[in-house]
Amino acid sequence: MTIKPLIILPDPLLRQTSKPIERIDVDVQRLADDMLATMYDAPGIGLAAVQIGVPRRMLVIDVSREGEEKQPLVFINPEILTSSDERSVYEEGCLSIPDYYAEVERPARVTVKHLDREGNEQIVEADGLLATCLQHEIDHLNGVLFIDYISRLKREMVIKKFTKAAKAKAV
Ligand code: NI
Repeated sequence: MTIKPLIILPDPLLRQTSKPIERIDVDVQRLADDMLATMYDAPGIGLAAVQIGVPRRMLVIDVSREGEEKQPLVFINPEILTSSDERSVYEEGCLSIPDYYAEVERPARVTVKHLDREGNEQIVEADGLLATCLQHEIDHLNGVLFIDYISRLKREMVIKKFTKAAKAKAV
């Protein structure tokens, strides 16, 4: 397992649509393991492949609490089948937008079809933090970020701040 560098806003790769994974082989499994290592190291509770520069449709999640046993989940080619009308609000953050948090309202429950690390088709009914995390990470596969749900003014301020920081770093 290798910890990979994270790509950060405003990297244009974050706005790209990730491509489906056609075959689950050792390379894909190694990518999943690297993503988990990177997510735990950050630390974070979810990570999409594109965030380590690989625009493929895979994400990893672990919403277990501190002190609890780890519950690594791998979702390959995830697809939201159903979303509840009921909505819930969580304060979200993103490893590609470090140290910025904002409340986002999303469907409270989702049903997600995907392949697991071994290539078996699975259907997960998620609620609570897992439902929010799944929707946040699936958004990444479509080039959508959680800041797209906040006000335009706030979003522009965040993008401006990160663009400035990236420029300062490049010098
Ligand atoms: Ni994110």
